[in-house]
Amino acid sequence: MRKAKIGILISGRGSNMMALVEASRAEECPYEVAIVASDKPDAPGLAWARQQNIVTFTMPTKGIAKPVYEAAIDAALREAGAELIALAGYMRLLSNDFVARWRGRIVNIHPSLLPKYKGLDTHQRALDAGDPVAGCSVHIVTEELDGGKVLGQIQVPVEPGDDAEALAARVLDAEHRLYPRVLAEFARSWTTA
Ligand code: GRF
Repeated sequence: MRKAKIGILISGRGSNMMALVEASRAEECPYEVAIVASDKPDAPGLAWARQQNIVTFTMPTKGIAKPVYEAAIDAALREAGAELIALAGYMRLLSNDFVARWRGRIVNIHPSLLPKYKGLDTHQRALDAGDPVAGCSVHIVTEELDGGKVLGQIQVPVEPGDDAEALAARVLDAEHRLYPRVLAEFARSWTTA
């Protein structure tokens, strides 16, 4: 079976990236992780990826124009042979140019049931609205923030007494189940297209 090569972009903790890497170790997994890149050189997830002997890339962003920075990330992804990109807690907005270069080949995980609560503070917004269910979504990345086609979702209940932190932890657990499954489906459709 041909495995699709994935580049994962992170900015911090990297728990979703870890879930993707761990799932990729199964023989039947249709993707492999070619590179983990971060815009934050001190991202804890980057240190973990290095320990796993995964190719990594980072460079400081301060004072660097976005096109220059994105050209460097693009070059690192291509050098590693990445065919698809998985955003996993990557906090910088990608430019329209970058999205266009990788059109249809970038996915993201978002901690809400899209189209609800695009952007930040998703858990507090769900609590403030009194929603009985929250959840997470994996979607295609387009020029519109958190606006591309939804590929999969998991719903989780909002429990009485939840604060944003408690809800975030329950949603995060669902993210770790959702992302490997949806990325596998996405990779399979890519390699068999
Ligand atoms: C996750 O909740 C993800 O949905 C959001 O940012 C968080 C990243 O967490 N985009 P981690 O770095 O994957 O642990």
